[in-house]
Amino acid sequence: MKLNIAILPGDGIGPEVIAEAVKVLKAIAIEFEHTFNFNYGIIGAAAIEKTQNPLPEETIELCKNSDAVLFGAIGDTAYDIDPNAKIRPEQGLLGIRKALELHTNIRPVVAYDDLLNKSSLKVKQIKGANIVIYRELTGGIYFGEKKLSKDGNTASDVCEYHRYEIERIAHAAFKAAESRKQKLTLVDKANVLESSRLWRRVVQDIAQHYPKVALDYMFIDNAAMELIINPKQFDVILTENMFGDILSEEASVIVGSIGLLASSSIGDKYAMFEPIHGAYSKAKNKGIANPIASILSAAMLLDHFNLFDEATLIRDAVDKSLNLHITTPDLNTKYDNISTSKVGDFIEDFINNPEETNLNFTNIHLGQSTII
Ligand code: IPM
Ligand code: MG
Repeated sequence: MKLNIAILPGDGIGPEVIAEAVKVLKAIAIEFEHTFNFNYGIIGAAAIEKTQNPLPEETIELCKNSDAVLFGAIGDTAYDIDPNAKIRPEQGLLGIRKALELHTNIRPVVAYDDLLNKSSLKVKQIKGANIVIYRELTGGIYFGEKKLSKDGNTASDVCEYHRYEIERIAHAAFKAAESRKQKLTLVDKANVLESSRLWRRVVQDIAQHYPKVALDYMFIDNAAMELIINPKQFDVILTENMFGDILSEEASVIVGSIGLLASSSIGDKYAMFEPIHGAYSKAKNKGIANPIASILSAAMLLDHFNLFDEATLIRDAVDKSLNLHITTPDLNTKYDNISTSKVGDFIEDFINNPEETNLNFTNIHLGQSTII
């Protein structure tokens, strides 16, 4: 298959982790005889530095002319601490989501057996947890009207949803539930918010089309607790933009590191693949950023084009790296010298030589491998 992939590394650790994802995709292209072309664009603080614009027109064009987009991370502490900054890196990410109408953000949360003791939660609570969060991505309070009064003392952000925005993601979430454990939990704040009550009404209507799926409801405050106490009760979680942002980051505690969580952002025409973590500027260029979330985002990209064997090989390689402690310091208590690029090298090596891996693994344990 020939794919043109737009690469938007972004800020902070974005370029480092995306470099590993590209390395892995190149290995997949060779192994499976695909042609992947990578074309780079700027976004976020990196783009502001060069053009004063967090989302230059050329970047939007690049994405629109590509089959898929792979995105790194966005944000910079210089802007985080300045509430008066008018131009902000995050406008780049929100802008590209909107420009490509990437309304459905899919964030899988799977507790890996090899990492159960890395979570701050109890093993018996999280073992077997397998959730997918469907987060609405182009509506709600993120995109509603924003106002600041002239005297600077009053501000508002409107949370607005339209029926069609809820319908399209609800269909996607119900379809996912059908192929999983047939359970869908709508997370909202319908006891307080009018927009949440609209979500309930629309989702109840859509549920008629999916009789096999059991639908239940949970308020966001309660869901934040239940996700930690008993994550195994969830299968598909469907929720609006900001609740999904918060819940998915919380869910990373189940997995052991936010550096593991990948996502796909799907629209009717375009698709983007992005780790759920931020730019983590403090870690920039230190070689300690976990590239797995980006690498698994690349696997989701391959799934999107029905390249399931390819995606499975990446996931097998990731499993092996976790199993052998070939991980960055956020997860590693065994080795202290495994860098971002070494994790990528290991996964690349696994893809290149799946049949020789036993030898390599032995070498790793003997400290003789050339790949670490
Ligand atoms: C995410 C991030 C973004 C969001 C930020 C960087 C704008 O937190 O993708 O989860 O809030 O959507
Ligand atoms: Mg977030």
